[in-house]
Amino acid sequence: MEWTREQRYRRIEEATIEELTALQEKVNNSRWRQKYHIQPVTGLLNDPNGFSYFNGEYHLFYQWFPLGPVHGLKYWYYTKSSDLVHWQNVGIALQPDDYFDSHGVYSGSAIVHNQTLYFMYTGNTRDENWVRHPYQCLAFMDENGQIKKLQAPVINEVPKGYTDHFRDPKVWKVHDTFYAVIGAQRENETGCVVLYSSPDLMHWTFEGEIHTRLQHFGFMWECPDYFELDGRGVLIFCPQGVVPAGEQFQYVHQSGYIAGNRLDLKTKIFEHGEFVKLDRGFDCYAPQTTIDHKGRRLLVGWMGLPDIPYPTDQDGWAHCLTLPRELTIQNGKLIQRPVKELEALRQDAVHVKDTLHNEQKRYDGFNGTCYELICEFTNMEAEEVGIEFRSSHKEKTVISYNRHKQKVTLDRTYSGEVPAKEYGTTSTCRVEGNAVKLHLFVDTSSVEIFINDGMEVFTSRIFPSPESTKICFFARNGNASLDTTIYHLAAMQKNGGADDGPLVFHW
Ligand code: FRU
Repeated sequence: MEWTREQRYRRIEEATIEELTALQEKVNNSRWRQKYHIQPVTGLLNDPNGFSYFNGEYHLFYQWFPLGPVHGLKYWYYTKSSDLVHWQNVGIALQPDDYFDSHGVYSGSAIVHNQTLYFMYTGNTRDENWVRHPYQCLAFMDENGQIKKLQAPVINEVPKGYTDHFRDPKVWKVHDTFYAVIGAQRENETGCVVLYSSPDLMHWTFEGEIHTRLQHFGFMWECPDYFELDGRGVLIFCPQGVVPAGEQFQYVHQSGYIAGNRLDLKTKIFEHGEFVKLDRGFDCYAPQTTIDHKGRRLLVGWMGLPDIPYPTDQDGWAHCLTLPRELTIQNGKLIQRPVKELEALRQDAVHVKDTLHNEQKRYDGFNGTCYELICEFTNMEAEEVGIEFRSSHKEKTVISYNRHKQKVTLDRTYSGEVPAKEYGTTSTCRVEGNAVKLHLFVDTSSVEIFINDGMEVFTSRIFPSPESTKICFFARNGNASLDTTIYHLAAMQKNGGADDGPLVFHW
């Protein structure tokens, strides 16, 4: 179905209860609903926003268009959790109902200040000629959880030299000064990140552009995030339109980072190394980080990409968020590990130790659609080892390690319904050694695979049929030792879903 502009920019209160109920029913009947990932009650979810720890709880919001699986009029939807595992749907946090955000409450971040959780976000507006005018806006949540917007933007204008693609403020504080990075497009249609400063979150000064070595790297940089970790500076961003180079940048949209010395806030010079992709799978975009009360740097991403149709569209919803990951730095590289709290979802465990001799093998208890699987291949003489999962006579998803090529490959060619086939159905990255550890989180329609304790991650939606439940381990052209454990995982909510709590009618 083609959505007209009028349909995309409908507000939720313009929909009748009957329409919303019918949509909700369609979504609930979808065979691809997730069990332990944050997903929208209806409609489309995209970027995580306002990720924070405040008042004893984690708060996580996301971009939401309630009325269908398209990028329409965006709201902030609110979920919260005390443990990063069990998320409760709270309802709509920010609505596009002011002159400065009339065409979408776009992405932004959160920061705690004076016992209050502040949100800085982009108000998207369009004039009668459909020309965009972005504002940077402020909202806040008091200790009782009440969220209010400041009734005027805190940044009214796009500075000279930049286009109206100017959005996604990420705020942090150094001593007494607040800083914000904003994703921007220069007038020559190249992407970059700019820096603002403020003494109080209300009054902002344009400091200028962050000077990186990437002067011509895509046409727009979305969702920047700057933080320091183990003495290093890290700038995460999503460059759009980077020209494909070999196996790199197959997609139009990337999310990745540059790391280096701390950003010099005076000169705005950021000395950094190569741009590194944050995720090696197919579906990960617009990640956002926060620091929690335990001092951990945590990251959540959108498990989806812009501008691509997904099989759940026909069921009235699209996308979910990734599991939260903890970030550390090793030798200048970001390491991403699933947060420890996720172990709370583990139910029964089955463990197997074996040696594979140029063969494929299945084991009792190793199957399902919703599990965590940890698998180590060691003493590798085999050329290639791997796992076929969500498999049946007609479908399989394969993660493999080729020792000769020193490459890990995720193959979703036969995963069922495959989104964005035109961009390729395998994804690869370099990994060295005669052993490999694969740590998988499989949910009804996704997989997140942590390689060698978070050295690389492959995040992908997969859309197999419910009968594709088999798991099979293999070693080709030689032997390999196998040590593996499967944990079947409980659903995030007691009665089976990841989407309980107040539904779409609550705002
Ligand atoms: C990234 C993005 C952001 C924007 C938001 C709108 O996916 O395009 O730049 O703020 O989504 O939903």
